[in-house]
Amino acid sequence: MTMESTISKQSLHMPNFDPTAAMFLENPYLFYEALRRVNPVQWVSSMSHQGWFVTGYDEVISILRDQRFQTRVPISQSSPNEMLLKIFNNTLLYQNPPHHTRLRSLVGRVFTSRVINDFRPYIQETIDYLLDSVQDRGEMDIMSDLAFPLPSIIIARMLGVPTEDRDQFRDWSNTLIQTIDLARPDEAMELGNQAVMELVGYFKKLIAKRREKPTNDLISKLVVEGESGDKLTDDELVATCILMLIAGHETTVNLISNTMLSLLNHPNELEKLQQDSTLIKSTIEEVLRYDGPTQMTARTAAEEVKIGGQRIEKGQHVYLLLGAANRDPVKFPSPNTFDITRSPNQHIAFGNGIHFCLGAALARLEAQMAVGALVKRFSTIQLKTAQPEWRPLIGFRALKELKVAYNSYK
Ligand code: HEM
Repeated sequence: MTMESTISKQSLHMPNFDPTAAMFLENPYLFYEALRRVNPVQWVSSMSHQGWFVTGYDEVISILRDQRFQTRVPISQSSPNEMLLKIFNNTLLYQNPPHHTRLRSLVGRVFTSRVINDFRPYIQETIDYLLDSVQDRGEMDIMSDLAFPLPSIIIARMLGVPTEDRDQFRDWSNTLIQTIDLARPDEAMELGNQAVMELVGYFKKLIAKRREKPTNDLISKLVVEGESGDKLTDDELVATCILMLIAGHETTVNLISNTMLSLLNHPNELEKLQQDSTLIKSTIEEVLRYDGPTQMTARTAAEEVKIGGQRIEKGQHVYLLLGAANRDPVKFPSPNTFDITRSPNQHIAFGNGIHFCLGAALARLEAQMAVGALVKRFSTIQLKTAQPEWRPLIGFRALKELKVAYNSYK
């Protein structure tokens, strides 16, 4: 071990650091900044994590693009939750080349921007329905009344889940999103495992039906072989459907609610958007940068790598703090300013490299349409609680609720 890495490892031994503590959740960006000042690639040893914390924009990108760093299923192999493990293992997110390359091209050919764009009318219809239900109430919880139901309704319809199964599907989806965080409790994992077992059975039946009689949904398109003559196996297909459900739910919920919170905390920016609705796209991009739903992802070094003056040894974990990279002053001038007209804005909230988010276009569209509708429909919106609370999750930026009062235009 070099002197360099020994010194920095010792310097940040933080046994009591708790990323689920209220102070951290209130403003994780202060911690990221302090860490980046020590070193953009820094060894941290705490009660929840032990590994390299990467906070620099360039360093995060170079690791995400470097195939010497691989994705691994983040659950201990001795976990009793076998089904969940097996499914995670089969997903795109936890595959490395060459398997990842094959899977990604088979799924990517179906989940296209055209397919997503065709869903515009249904997304609008769903948002209108959800907002009509609260229109006259004068107050709502943006999380539970709009942001939470929207993505699961949309992905269910895209995959081809019949209307009569939607409530059951939503329940499975809600149970599963409790399992995605690195700090998930055992009970959440057990429930998630159970939900996955049921979902696997459900999707297998649906896949068999679509094989026999294809329709226009994603599953029908995914069962067909690609140009190369290759096609997804049933296990891969099931894992892909479940990943879309997990990866696309919590994240989109939080993008919608974090956007509304940022706007309500910055009335000048909200006013700009109210006056010019074409700013909706750059508003969503700025929230992805400023307070994005996914704050962290992880990789494991498959061999020794030198980066940012540090030597990362084979088998060591690197935690890539996307939320920190997105506030790196080297890349973003005035990084702590929320500016909905910011341009350029090359944030990495959807990751980078081969695992770049497959659902980015869908998430962007849902958030633009949901926030656009809220701003258009209500003449005034105010927070009901001065400081809404954050959920104690590691790696995700998620509010517990977002209660607002409003007046309608009509
Ligand atoms: C991958 C973020 C919405 C499907 C990723 C990654 C990030 C991310 C950071 C890369 C993880 C890594 O490199 O370790 C987000 C955010 C979203 C969002 C912030 C919403 C605001 C969605 C949606 C879907 C989706 C709506 C699908 C319906 C996926 C899939 C992958 C992925 C399949 C894995 C891609 C691969 O490994 O090749 N997402 N995501 N995501 N996301 Fe998203």
